[in-house]
Amino acid sequence: MDDVTDTVFRQIVASCAPPDLFFTEFVNVDGLMSPGRDKLLKKLRFVPEEKSLVAQLWGLKPENFRAVAEQIADGTLARELGLPEGCNFVGVDLNMGCPAKSEVQNGACSALIKLENRELAGAIIDATKEGLAGHLPLSVKTRIGFSAVDMTWFEFLLAKDLDMLTVHGRTRKEMSKVPAHWDVIGQVRELRDHLAPQTLIVGNGDVMSRQQGESLAKGHNLDGIMVGRGIFQNPFLFLEDSPLDWENYDKASKINLYRKQVELFAETWKAKERNIKTLNRFCKVYINGFDGAKELREQLMAAESTGELLELLNSQPA
Ligand SMILES: Cc1cc2nc3c(=O)[nH]c(=O)nc-3n(C[C@H](O)[C@H](O)[C@H](O)COP(=O)(O)O)c2cc1C
Repeated sequence: MDDVTDTVFRQIVASCAPPDLFFTEFVNVDGLMSPGRDKLLKKLRFVPEEKSLVAQLWGLKPENFRAVAEQIADGTLARELGLPEGCNFVGVDLNMGCPAKSEVQNGACSALIKLENRELAGAIIDATKEGLAGHLPLSVKTRIGFSAVDMTWFEFLLAKDLDMLTVHGRTRKEMSKVPAHWDVIGQVRELRDHLAPQTLIVGNGDVMSRQQGESLAKGHNLDGIMVGRGIFQNPFLFLEDSPLDWENYDKASKINLYRKQVELFAETWKAKERNIKTLNRFCKVYINGFDGAKELREQLMAAESTGELLELLNSQPA
């Protein structure tokens, strides 16, 4: 998730309970292949401890998808990010689902679902595949239609021999305003069974716990579940055996986890590549559910530096 699941937050989640796969924020290939590359690399940064990380790409120019996919597949990009030899992304995902106006107006992301852009969508998939040259798997993340549910979109995608297809159960028009249509995700899986049994189908939308995700996967016979905002409800969401009651998790442990994130943020983004205010979204995750949380949150959210944040967190009585 853009400005959320950077290397810092992924490391925190990995330390609580790692998912099978992490995804980077979406990164623009046209920007990566321009003089602005350096500014975008922060979105791809990771550390070996994150283990299985998929790079998510978006953009408009197939030749840039091909070039970036090649740099990922041959390890050039990972080396540029300073990773040790042999440590690399485990796959590439194409964002064909982001509903934001700025992307859609240019014909990118969820606009690729539209019939008139199908040729471009196909060219992007083909070019990325060429770049990956079979060295890494390719997946697509998309929505169930642009203005209305569109099964022709899935017939098209499933003819592309993808390794994985993640389906967010809403149309672009629906943004996030209605509950996800899991029945339609199930229909895509049925179509997959007929057209492309080799493509894994992952469902996405409104999953707030591991248990709920597992039950949806089972009910619709899916290969996996992607969780977005649910991680804000519980950083331990991926715990396998016993669910952790985050709401009633004690104050000191919540503060400790936030402190860990702020310390890692300060260490990772030394050159201020990330705005300190991006931490405010997390403040609500941790500083919640105990006496005085609201007041502390207000103070923390007004802080202008990680030093100030740490001072406030360290001064909290247990
Ligand atoms: C702040 C924010 C940023 C997001 N950024 C991305 C992104 O970069 N790539 C992506 O595929 N989806 C992105 N999404 C969409 C989520 O991955 C997910 O598809 C959507 O929120 C529905 O799933 P959920 O109910 O589990 O959150 C973002 C969502 C939010 C709220």
